[in-house]
Amino acid sequence: MAQTAQYIVQDNLVKIVDMLNQLFAEEWLAYYQYWIGAKVVAGPMRPNIVDEFMEHANQELDHANKLADRIIQLGGTPVLNPEDWMRIAKCRYEAPTEICTTQVLKQNLTAERCAVSHYQQLCVLCNGIDYVTLRLAEKILKEEVEHEQEIEDFIQDIELTGKCNTD
Ligand SMILES: [Fe+2]
Ligand SMILES: [Fe+2]
Repeated sequence: MAQTAQYIVQDNLVKIVDMLNQLFAEEWLAYYQYWIGAKVVAGPMRPNIVDEFMEHANQELDHANKLADRIIQLGGTPVLNPEDWMRIAKCRYEAPTEICTTQVLKQNLTAERCAVSHYQQLCVLCNGIDYVTLRLAEKILKEEVEHEQEIEDFIQDIELTGKCNTD
């Protein structure tokens, strides 16, 4: 007999756990992309960008933590081997080989847009089926949209540097 959390979700259990694990792998890669980006980034607005990247990194780790808890609640196992993160994730990890702030910001913008679209998919998958995962997906989706906006704002501010009339 399945446990309550698993029983409620029934036929969609495997699909939901698989998607949660895909997002779990993506969150670890997102965490590392921000963390290593904060270490190597250079150029305009570096101190502000480093602070923002570290804040985002911590939030991505918190997302991974919450996803792992939900996977376990549903009777699944969170990805155990970091070697599997790249294989399971459908958002690409982009190493910040170009360290200029604008380049690193654009890589993170791509990653955030990918995360937004996948949490949107998870919401659709869970709607009417698994309300606990749906609430979690909605909460994380909101934070990913905020991340996306914050990165877009940095890119715009850098582009406008020296162009704004200060009279
Ligand atoms: Fe995240
Ligand atoms: Fe994010």
